[in-house]
Amino acid sequence: MGIHKPVLLKEVIELLEPKSGENFIDCNYGSGGHSRAILERIKPAGHILAIDADPGVKGDKNIKLINDNFVNLKAIYERNFPYPVSGILFDLGFSSDQLENSGRGFSFLTDEPLDMRYNPEGQRLTAKEILNKYGAKSLVRIFREFGEVKEKLARKVAWAIVARRGRRLFEMTSDLLEVISENAVRHKRIHPATQFFQALRIEVNKELDNLRQILPQAVEILKPALPDKSLGGQGGRLAVISFHSLEDRIVKNYFRDWARQGKVELLTKKPLTAGEEELKSNPRARSAKLRAIKKFSD
Ligand SMILES: C[S@@+](CC[C@H](N)C(=O)[O-])C[C@H]1O[C@@H](n2cnc3c(N)ncnc32)[C@H](O)[C@@H]1O
Repeated sequence: MGIHKPVLLKEVIELLEPKSGENFIDCNYGSGGHSRAILERIKPAGHILAIDADPGVKGDKNIKLINDNFVNLKAIYERNFPYPVSGILFDLGFSSDQLENSGRGFSFLTDEPLDMRYNPEGQRLTAKEILNKYGAKSLVRIFREFGEVKEKLARKVAWAIVARRGRRLFEMTSDLLEVISENAVRHKRIHPATQFFQALRIEVNKELDNLRQILPQAVEILKPALPDKSLGGQGGRLAVISFHSLEDRIVKNYFRDWARQGKVELLTKKPLTAGEEELKSNPRARSAKLRAIKKFSD
């Protein structure tokens, strides 16, 4: 692990404002790029609780890493972190390390088993199973919703998948790439397989459902603002980096509703995106959107 570059790092630090002695939770530890930058600012007295579903992710000195799904955030927090929480970060999706080195079929650039589980020990559904068992209608829905594939192409590929598995079941990324390449014309800068692979990954890992479940838990955990600001008690901050328009919509709607209820202050009216400099050195930042809030009250 280690080739992953943290996305929107400067912006995350500006919004989370980590200060000496504060405590933070990083729900997507990955290679720890964001966590290490936060640690620099909160040490020596502050603490970080890090979570990652992937058992291949390894922790770092002074960071407590729990290998678990972040949907269990509240229980993980209560069991492992006896501190008031000044900030929580989500950096959703997969890391460049998983894309290139996991051997679990996140990328179509290498021939690997069609797995795509972040946690092969704790999850059952694989990409292979979806391709070999889901009906054509369900495949079309997944490709359209999670991959933002146009209806006509989604149907064409879904039916080609059903036809192919009647002859031979899907096993490897090359099997799927072959079907996509036979049916989709490549005229954009981005290979059409990108969208299909993204769709399967989101379905395998229930990424949108998890996000819907977890945001309210995160706000609950954050420390509320103290009524007397002179005591230095500002409320905890929550920052979310998403990579898909449906994810961003979920985050936006929650944040807007909580702001209307007077529970939080919006720190980003519009999502922040990567500047040109970052895009040059990290193409993965292309679709990243960052939103943040500060908690007022429970
Ligand atoms: C974009 S990477 C995080 C990169 C990290 N911020 C860094 O700077 O290195 C996302 C990570 O979240 C993990 N992940 C995705 N969904 C998860 C979930 N539901 N629970 C826990 N970890 C998850 C993935 O295994 C991956 O390592």
